[in-house]
Amino acid sequence: MMSDEYPVPEEWMADISKILFTEAQIQARVAALGRQIVHDYADKKPVLVGVLKGVIFFMADLLRAINIPVEVDFMSVSNYSPELRDKGVVRLVKDLEMPIEGRHVIFVEDIIDTGLTINYLLRNLRARQPASLEVCVLFNKEKRRLIDLPLRYKGFDVPDNYIVGYGLDYREQYRNLPFVGLLKAQALHQPAHPATGL
Ligand code: IMP
Ligand code: MG
Repeated sequence: MMSDEYPVPEEWMADISKILFTEAQIQARVAALGRQIVHDYADKKPVLVGVLKGVIFFMADLLRAINIPVEVDFMSVSNYSPELRDKGVVRLVKDLEMPIEGRHVIFVEDIIDTGLTINYLLRNLRARQPASLEVCVLFNKEKRRLIDLPLRYKGFDVPDNYIVGYGLDYREQYRNLPFVGLLKAQALHQPAHPATGL
């Protein structure tokens, strides 16, 4: 599979079985989400909060699609083993830099699967008493959802398959693919990343 438009890593292209969303499709959807947010938050100067690192592409494009005053901050959570993650155990390794009490917060996520991670983080943010707290997710994997989550802004519903690109990784790889694609089964059996052990 080739991409004419971008200088993408050839050996990573070979691991993609199908492109689910092209860069153009993603951009159009992100622009629409930006317009919705502009409409809803015209006089509110919202704070967009993201979780590193998967959200970086989406956050950068979403911010540029919002032409009203807005602020941004990030938090980072640890990569626990899948076993611990399935119990909803999340460790905050980098907190927000700004206080959000009394602020209108939009929690921006790249992908929600079971919902356990975001559920933990939303509880944490809610305890800081923001004026409002809504969720904006680009990719919604509903099939494995364990928690009932109201998603105010939603980009795309995706099937229960492993997807990569546009910030989404598998063992820290594939983030810089400009599109979102399905990872071939054979690519899901690579050795763990040396730094994270995952
Ligand atoms: P949840 O707690 O099950 O909702 O986990 C969501 C997190 O799992 C996301 O923030 C991603 O880091 C990761 N994740 C889940 N599905 C995928 C996928 O298809 N591709 C890449 N990362 C994924
Ligand atoms: Mg994430």
